Amino acid sequence: MTATRIIEILRNSQPDETVTIQGWVRTTRELKEFTFMEVNDGSSLASLQVILEPSIPNYGTLVKQLGTGASVQVSGVLVSSVGKGQRIELKASNVTLYGEADAQTYPLQKKRHSFEFLRNIGHLRCRTNTLGAVMRVRNACAAAIHQFYQERGFIWVHTPIITANDCEGAGELFTVTNFNLNNIPRKKEDQTIDYSQDFFAKHAYLTVSGQLEAEVMAMAFQNVYTFGPTFRAENSNTSRHLAEFWMVEPEMAFCDLEGDQNLAEAFLKHIFKTVLEKCPEDMEFFNDRIDNTVLATAENIINNEFGRITYTEAIALLEKCGKTFEYPVEWGVDLQSEHERYLAEEHFKKPLIVTNYPKTIKAFYMRLNDDDKTVAAMDVLAPKIGEIIGGSQREERLEVLERRIIEQGMIPDDLWWYLDLRRFGTVPHAGFGLGFERVVQFMTGMGNIRDVIPFPRTPQSAEF
Ligand code: 4AD
Ligand code: MG
Repeated sequence: MTATRIIEILRNSQPDETVTIQGWVRTTRELKEFTFMEVNDGSSLASLQVILEPSIPNYGTLVKQLGTGASVQVSGVLVSSVGKGQRIELKASNVTLYGEADAQTYPLQKKRHSFEFLRNIGHLRCRTNTLGAVMRVRNACAAAIHQFYQERGFIWVHTPIITANDCEGAGELFTVTNFNLNNIPRKKEDQTIDYSQDFFAKHAYLTVSGQLEAEVMAMAFQNVYTFGPTFRAENSNTSRHLAEFWMVEPEMAFCDLEGDQNLAEAFLKHIFKTVLEKCPEDMEFFNDRIDNTVLATAENIINNEFGRITYTEAIALLEKCGKTFEYPVEWGVDLQSEHERYLAEEHFKKPLIVTNYPKTIKAFYMRLNDDDKTVAAMDVLAPKIGEIIGGSQREERLEVLERRIIEQGMIPDDLWWYLDLRRFGTVPHAGFGLGFERVVQFMTGMGNIRDVIPFPRTPQSAEF
C-alpha cells in the first residue's frame, strides 16, 4: 500500500478509511490501556495522532523504541477523534520502525528551542514546527513566482553563476579559482596573482546578479526572468544579509520605469495572495507564534496600492519628520535601513516605491534622467524589512552608457558584449531584482534571514 501524506488525511479523509503513513515521531504518551503517538511527515504543521493498542504486534517492545525522532510507517483505520485539537486520528494495526532516535542524544527535545540553538543543528532543524512552516512557505513563494511569470509569457532564463563581471560595481565579489592555495602562481614584479595560469585565464567571480545576462536574453525574447542563487561578500552581519541568497530578476524589453514599478507591485501582490491561499495553516502559525501582524500585513499588501515617491521627495519627508537618525539625511546620501523603515513603517504604513535616485549612489547601467543628476532607479521598501526589491530602467543609449561606465571607474572594453546590445537593435528596457529570502522573511515575520533559508551562508559560517 502506498503511503498517504498527512496533510491529505487531515484535510480530506473520512473515518473508516484504511491508510498508511510514513514519518517521524514527534511525541509519545503511554497510558494504561494504550499509547498516543504524534507523527509528522513534513507535509503540514499538524501531526497525525496515532493510537497504539496492546493488540498490535510487538507492542511492548515498540512503545519503548518509539521515542521523539524515530522514523516509522503506520497502517490502520481512521477514526473520529474524541479529544479536542484534531478531527481525525489513526488506530494503528501495524507499525514498522525504520530507525530509532536515542532520547539521550537526539538534539531536538519536546521543549521549545531557540533559533540560535537550532542554527547549530542545521541538519535537523527543519523537523521543527517553525522551520518546517518556513520551508513550506518558501516553497509556495517559489511556485507562485514561477506561476506569475509563466502566466505572463516570460521565459525563465538560466544565467551563469560563474561570471567575469561585477554587475553592481560594489566590489563585493567572491573570486573563483582552481589554484591550489599553497601554490598560487604570482607575477614576480608585483606579487599579484597571475591569472593567465588559472582555469579561466582571467578573473572569475561568483555572480552578484544575473541582470546583465538577463538583458542579453531580453533582447531576444522580450520578457524574461531569472531565479537563482547570487553571492555577495559584503561583511554585513545583519539580520537581513546573506552571503548566498536567491534572487528573482525579471527583465523587459520595450518597458520604462513606470512599467517596471507596475510589474513589481503586481508581482508582490500575487505572491502574498497565492501563499495565503496555499499555506493557510502555516501563515496562521506565524501570526500566532512569531509576529501577530503577519496576516494583517499580507492583507494590507494585497488590498492597498503601494506608495510611490521620488528620492527627492523622500529626502524632504525625512528632513522634516522631526526624528533624529543615526545617519543624517541630505540630498545625495544613500537611504539607510533606518530611513527606509521610517518611510515604510511610520509614514506610509505600507510598502512604497522610491524612484529617481542620485546617479552617484547607483550602478552604472541605470538610465540617466534629463536632469543629469538622477537615474531612473526604483527601490521597493517594505515595513520591518526595508529594501525588498531594487531595479531600474536601463541605459539604452550607447554614448551615455560608455560615459557612465568610465565615470564609475570601470573599463568599457570589459563590457564589450553589453555595449553591443546598444549597438545592435537597442530598445528601452527595464527590470528589477527581488531578494527571495527578504520576501520570505517579510511574509513569515521571522526576525533573522538565517532562519528562512535551509543552509545560511554568512561571514564566518558555512558549516556544511
Ligand atoms: O538592489 P540589488 O543590489 O539589485 C541588483 O542586484 C540588480 N542587478 C537587480 C536588477 O535590477 N535585476 O539587489 C536586489 C535585491 C535587494 O533589493 C535585496 O532584496 C536583495 O536583492 N539583496 C539581498 N538579500 C539578502 N542578502 C543580501 N546580502 C542581499 N543583497 C541584496
Ligand atoms: Mg539595491
